[in-house]
Amino acid sequence: MDGNGRWAKKRFLPRLAGHKQGVEALRSCVQDCRTRGVRVLTVFAFSSENWSRPADEVSGLMEILGLAVVREIKALSENGVRLYFVGDRSALSSKLIAALVDAERKTAENEQLVLNVCLNYGGRWDIAQAASRLASSGALITPKSLDGAMAMAHVPDPDLFIRTGGEQRLSNFLLWQTAYSELYFSDCLWPDFGANDLDAAIAAYSGRERRFGKISEQMISIPKATHAD
Ligand code: IPE
Ligand code: MG
Repeated sequence: MDGNGRWAKKRFLPRLAGHKQGVEALRSCVQDCRTRGVRVLTVFAFSSENWSRPADEVSGLMEILGLAVVREIKALSENGVRLYFVGDRSALSSKLIAALVDAERKTAENEQLVLNVCLNYGGRWDIAQAASRLASSGALITPKSLDGAMAMAHVPDPDLFIRTGGEQRLSNFLLWQTAYSELYFSDCLWPDFGANDLDAAIAAYSGRERRFGKISEQMISIPKATHAD
């Protein structure tokens, strides 16, 4: 979800106003995903590297996040959304951790859409924590065992990876899980990302042929894969 700061700057507003508008964009995006039958939506809310932003932006972001989580639980529950917070919680405040745990517990029975909010998350952190957990339990480290030890093990690998804000890089997001994801880059700033932009991304995705290492002729009678088995 990139581009909140630029969205605010264009309007002569403080960066935090952009982040607040980013929460609004996420709220609509969750609805748009639900009505389109998307089962899993994973968003990058705060990266391991975002701590190095100015202190007032970091504390403001944490506050916006904490408030949004508490405020949205009811509506998310009514819409069948199950929340997961993915990332290293050790650096978060105990108040925020309590809000995250509470939101996960209150939405645990919901089955329509899984919403993973990646918070203090980094793709390299995830690979390292999975490997070190396996190593300390004495388990063999294989692609399959790593898959199961990842912080994202509860959902399939993403089919479509969307980055807004015009940059064309992964920036340490789902590094392991995007091995076969279709990448889509949009110039749209995240607070402006609406249903039409989501539809454009899905349309681009639908036009791609996913071969998972095979050749085109082998794919013809195979239904579209949803998981890179
Ligand atoms: C949101 O956009 C990303 C978050 C860390 C929440 P940015 O804050 O990176 O916005 P730009 O790139 O400065 O426009
Ligand atoms: Mg940015």
